[in-house]
Amino acid sequence: MKIIKCKNNNIMALLKEAENVDDRIIKANSVDAAFEKHVPQFEREGDKVIVLVNHVMEDDHYIEWIMVDYGDKQIIKHFNPGEEPKVEVEFKEGMKAYSYCNKHGLWENSL
Ligand SMILES: [Fe+2]
Repeated sequence: MKIIKCKNNNIMALLKEAENVDDRIIKANSVDAAFEKHVPQFEREGDKVIVLVNHVMEDDHYIEWIMVDYGDKQIIKHFNPGEEPKVEVEFKEGMKAYSYCNKHGLWENSL
């Protein structure tokens, strides 16, 4: 999954290949910030997985969303300050998850 930052600072997930976006692709896990407080964690319970991020959810610093990427399907959950950044989804081999911190950008992990 390629995630880009537009000129107007909107964040977009590319649902198909596009040209001339290479300079706007956001690289996951590339900001100098605490890895363990940003990268999505997986807690598997049978055929379910809880994806969560161990991050503060303050008014000016929080996880905006988590996206679970199955390759052929994506699930995105948005969060507000004060909410717990976690989502329960079905387990699939090779699944990935992305989280987005409003200050520290994009983070990625796979199961
Ligand atoms: Fe952060």
